[in-house]
Amino acid sequence: MDNFSFYSPTFFEFGKKAEEKAGKLVKRFGGSKVLIHYGGGSVVRSGLLDRVKASLEAEGIPFVELGGVKPNPRSGLVYEGIELGKKEGVDFILAVGGGSTIDSSKAIAAGMVYDGDFWDFYQGKEILQALPVGTVLTIAAAGSEGSPNSVITNENGMFKRGAGGDAIRPKFSILNPELTQTLPPFQTAAGATDIMAHLYERYLTNTTDVEVTDRLIEALLLTMKNEVPKVIKDPDNYEARANIMWAGMMAHNNSCGVGRSQDWNSHTIEHELSALYDVAHGAGLAVTMPAVFKYVMNHNIMRFAQAAVRVWGCQMDFEHPENTALAGIEAFRSFLISIGMPSNFEELGAKEEDIPELVKVLCYGDGRDGKISGFVTLDENDCTKIYQMMV
Ligand code: NZQ
Ligand code: ZN
Repeated sequence: MDNFSFYSPTFFEFGKKAEEKAGKLVKRFGGSKVLIHYGGGSVVRSGLLDRVKASLEAEGIPFVELGGVKPNPRSGLVYEGIELGKKEGVDFILAVGGGSTIDSSKAIAAGMVYDGDFWDFYQGKEILQALPVGTVLTIAAAGSEGSPNSVITNENGMFKRGAGGDAIRPKFSILNPELTQTLPPFQTAAGATDIMAHLYERYLTNTTDVEVTDRLIEALLLTMKNEVPKVIKDPDNYEARANIMWAGMMAHNNSCGVGRSQDWNSHTIEHELSALYDVAHGAGLAVTMPAVFKYVMNHNIMRFAQAAVRVWGCQMDFEHPENTALAGIEAFRSFLISIGMPSNFEELGAKEEDIPELVKVLCYGDGRDGKISGFVTLDENDCTKIYQMMV
């Protein structure tokens, strides 16, 4: 196991009606004037926004609102939020929505206390300071409710890039599984795929002897394999929703990623798809992961064979472990298809003729040097082949 530091100070309020505590939690974590940030309207329609506002009013906390965050959140609204927040003198950002809203909130929180352009953080500068952020989560997916990361698309070039720093870990996150019951099945499945991707990105490691984190990841993958079909069949299954919601947090606050190298090439490759075609991140990952896994499988067959046996229930073929590895990848792919995820470029709305452009932006865009690295290092040629495998 590698040396590591782990700092995860988010306070979680989990369960039915938890959103009623929003006002008290903002107060507890020092907010005296709040910017409420939300997406395209689902929280207005569900009545959640009104409940959150009532909870702030009950504590006498003034607030301003900024809605309109799009899935794959854009830089334009972040600039708007920074300006509004400064003008109004807010000292706390409250995200009410999914990963996109939370990421946009984190970007505003960092940008508000930084003299330069907030995009500097998305070009590699660590976020050391930010206003406090709280979240009321409405979809189990990105894990941003417990993570030190934020992903934003810069409209100037459509670069989708990530930033990070412990300063943007939410001070508190409110997780009420009931709030996820209004999700359309496609969004539920896309979120589940993202959660599983966060687990696989950590599972694909070059560090040896990481039994505790291997076993945690396998447990969470098994949970997803068992619980997701239940909510696809019955969206109101609270207990399954609850298990998925907590698995989504566990998958990405890095408790199962410490002390080991991680991959993230599937995410890096997918981000170009969601940037170019504006597809749901999880749907893009459903098409990307099987291709990446098959392409890099030979780097460590036993890693894939282990997941195949322990998670997907495949028989170990000791003479030909590559067969077991492949069977596990195929089982994962079939699972994703069974929950309604796309399996190729066409179903995703991507085009084969765009591959050169995708590869160019992936490998050279926004200051990159021609390669992406993770479990294995991939160059232009590798990335081209991987995108071709998705056609
Ligand atoms: O915008 P509204 O109207 O709220 O609708 C959203 C949106 O259309 C809808 N939705 C959310 N909760 C709902 C609901 N509809 C009905 N009922 C509810 N309860 O679902 C759609 C997707 O929302 P979004 O916030 O985009 O989803 P998600 O949480 O999957 O976030 C995706 C973003 O997170 C980034 C992705 O790249 C993508 O931009 N990621 C962020 C990470 C992080 N910060 O740590 C890590 C991830 O790997 C990921 O890259
Ligand atoms: Zn993700």
